[in-house]
Amino acid sequence: MTDKSNIFENFFMQMTSALIAVDPEFRFIVANELALKIFPQLASIITDTVLCQAEFPELYELLNGSKKIYKANAKIYDVGIKEFDNINVKVLWFRDVTKEKETLALLKLDQLEISETLLERDRFIQEVQEKVITSLADVIESRDESTGGHVKRTNDTVKLLLDTMLRDNYPGLDENFVKIVSSCSSMHDIGKISVSDTILLKNGKLTDDEFSKMKHHAEVGGNLIDKVLDGIEDENVLRIARNIANSHHEKWDGSGYPNKLHGEEIPLEARVMAIADVYDALVSKRCYKEPMPFPKANAIMQESFGKHFDPSLKKYFDECLPQIESYYETANND
Ligand SMILES: [Fe+2]
Repeated sequence: MTDKSNIFENFFMQMTSALIAVDPEFRFIVANELALKIFPQLASIITDTVLCQAEFPELYELLNGSKKIYKANAKIYDVGIKEFDNINVKVLWFRDVTKEKETLALLKLDQLEISETLLERDRFIQEVQEKVITSLADVIESRDESTGGHVKRTNDTVKLLLDTMLRDNYPGLDENFVKIVSSCSSMHDIGKISVSDTILLKNGKLTDDEFSKMKHHAEVGGNLIDKVLDGIEDENVLRIARNIANSHHEKWDGSGYPNKLHGEEIPLEARVMAIADVYDALVSKRCYKEPMPFPKANAIMQESFGKHFDPSLKKYFDECLPQIESYYETANND
């Protein structure tokens, strides 16, 4: 439960609404500062304590969904619930609608109050979902001490490659695709949440059995994204995020995993991700190895186009290489 509390504390701090997280048995996980202003009693509640109905009758009604509007501190809140079944967490969020209510009252349009807020609510849920994913990616990275900064570096490399491809009018690519892939690439290893610390943090070569368990992260990642982003308004985001998590270890020649996809059966977003992922593994320091020199890493990359990587992407990698090397020179010296 401590892990969950950390995950949510991390992203709650970035949100502008009051938020409270509990588990399905109403055990308290965390609340942000804004929520503590609405329910100051929560400040003394320790994580994992069951919020009993007698002590928190109104909070109970809100968590059960029987009450959608809450008034406190001379403010009116539109209250929503988002359930993350896969991680057993319920998030209660409070959006301050005082001003909208006052305006609607002035215009005598009270009856429209709920529908007026629906679009805003959908956007908010989407924001929560994306932040949960990003926070999960951060937690996974912080568990894997050997890959600190991997998410950011691969993100930046993916963006650089895609921008170059876009300028060259690469077939099937447009600005929206670039924007979505750039934001979803941080989730590529999200399935590693299912990999045990013993394997993830092992200082040395994995056994065959450990490696096969590690390989599950691709499939698990795809499924996890399906669950967490379920109902997201933009289906492209769900599809692209799932493709990246599920297929970033597929290889052009069909020898990758989890589905041994060949060539263009592998979604473009995953083909680009694979280049950034492998290059980062080569030139970054790990607890068991020093960074590989750029010429040696580049030689391996060059040999891999047509085998591991899509050969049509080689020209973009070559074009970006000077920028990528100078980026890593700075990153490795930091
Ligand atoms: Fe991976």
